[in-house]
Amino acid sequence: MDEEPQRTGDPSLFRNLSCTFVAGAANEESLPHASLPEIAFIGRSNVGKSSLVNALVEKKSIARTSQNPGATKQLNFFNLGNRLMLVDMPGYGFAKVSKQQKSEWDNLIRNYFLGRTTLQRACVLIDARRGAMPHDHEFMELLDETAVIFYIILTKIDALKPSELNEVLKTMEDTIKSHVAAFPKLFATSAEKKIGIDTLQQELSQFVLAE
Ligand code: GTP
Ligand code: MG
Repeated sequence: MDEEPQRTGDPSLFRNLSCTFVAGAANEESLPHASLPEIAFIGRSNVGKSSLVNALVEKKSIARTSQNPGATKQLNFFNLGNRLMLVDMPGYGFAKVSKQQKSEWDNLIRNYFLGRTTLQRACVLIDARRGAMPHDHEFMELLDETAVIFYIILTKIDALKPSELNEVLKTMEDTIKSHVAAFPKLFATSAEKKIGIDTLQQELSQFVLAE
C-alpha cells in the first residue's frame, strides 16, 4: 500500500515557493496529469477567484483578473513549488457567454469535480456584497452530491460596513449548515486589502506536500 504523503502545515510556503502557470484546460483531454494535491477555486463570474489566487501566492498578476466578468475562460493550473496545485476556474452564471460555451464549461467543471482524484478541497467564493445566489446553491449541491468538501469564502469584504458584514456572516452560517460537504468554518477575505489571506494560507497549507 502507498504511504500517506507527508504534509507541511507551513503557511509561509505560499510566499516562499515559486508559483508557475502550468496549463490552461478548455476540455477534459487537456487537463494536466493529476499528480499533486489540488485545490480548486470556483464561484460566480467576477466574484474574485483569480484575485484570490494571486493574493494567496502573493503574486500580483499570475492569474489574469478583470473588471469584466468572463475573464477566466479555462481551468488554469498553477503549480506551487511542485508541492500543491491551485486551479483557477471560469465563473458560472455569466449571461454574456453563448449557451454552447456555458454548457461546455458546465460539463467540464462538473466532470472535473466528479473525477479529479487529486482534488483535496473546493473553495466556493461568494461575493460578500451579494451573498449566496441561486447558482451558488446549485453548485454547492453538486459538491454535496459528489462528496467534495468545500470551504465557503466570502470575497471583497473591504466593500462592506461592519454591520453589513455581520449580517452576511450570519446568513452564511445557515448556508454552511444546509450543506453536508461544507466545511464548518467560514472564511472572510479581501484580496485587495489582504484581509483573511493569512488565515486561508494557514488552512490550505495542510495540503502542501513536504519536500
Ligand atoms: P472571472 O474569471 O470573470 O470569473 O472573474 P474572477 O472571479 O476571476 O474575478 P477577478 O479576480 O477577475 O476580479 C473581478 C473584479 O473584482 C476585478 O475588478 C477585481 O479588481 C475585483 N476584486 C477582486 N477582489 C477584490 C477585493 O478583495 N475587493 C474589491 N473591492 N474588489 C475586488
Ligand atoms: Mg478569473
